[in-house]
Amino acid sequence: QLDQKLAGHQVLITAGPTREPLDPVRYLTNRSSGKMGYAIAEAAQKMGADVVLVSGPTNLDCPDQISCIRVETAEEMLKAVSAEASKSTIFISAAAVADYRLKEVATKKMKKQGSSLHLELEQNPDILATTSKANPDLFTVGFAAETNDVIEYAMGKLKRKQLNMIVANQVGGGKGFDKDSNQVDILTDGGDHISLPETSKQQLAFDILDVVCQFYSKDQSNKS
Ligand code: PMT
Repeated sequence: QLDQKLAGHQVLITAGPTREPLDPVRYLTNRSSGKMGYAIAEAAQKMGADVVLVSGPTNLDCPDQISCIRVETAEEMLKAVSAEASKSTIFISAAAVADYRLKEVATKKMKKQGSSLHLELEQNPDILATTSKANPDLFTVGFAAETNDVIEYAMGKLKRKQLNMIVANQVGGGKGFDKDSNQVDILTDGGDHISLPETSKQQLAFDILDVVCQFYSKDQSNKS
């Protein structure tokens, strides 16, 4: 029997990539498998939380006793997250959301057009920033997937997106995406820096949630 540290909480988690269509048969996406976000969802459920998992397209099954909402695009993910956020106490954004989508999606399969092709992209909404700003009482935890200057960029996202905490994740060169293990550093809005050792994504999920619980309690006692 695990310590039920998250009993009484609704934890909202995003996982996996988003898929942005170009035409009826093609799309833009990234290398996220969903493993990290799904591991956090399972760990949160085992720690007593009611878990809502909003997932982009992955090959993973919805874990037992978790409410899963499947989406494809960033816009669909934002809609699902917005509907659940006000019912939740903690939001963990592990999804690798596409920053851009095609400005005009073709309704018919695009034809070959000579030696180069230019696609006009427009920015997707930032789900994490939108949600944290719209729900100031929600404890928000972002991820930052970076190939370089990981801590510096993560710190910038923590502040810009008004988060309680960010999980800085070195990616590229065989790290992070689609692996069974991972290593992260956690930064908080109070200036704390916790380095977690490399381990399986299943174990890391519990380690991340232990830190979330610790700082959630601190945040609540500061408010009262
Ligand atoms: O899925 P796996 O294969 O297991 O890999 C795990 C992972 C590497 C994808 C995961 O650990 C991770 O780092 N997820 C965040 C990936 C990411 O897109 O990071 P980012 O630095 O681009 O985005 C920063 C934060 O803003 C993230 O919390 C992201 O979910 C969020 N975001 C980004 C853009 C956007 N339009 N909306 C968002 O909500």
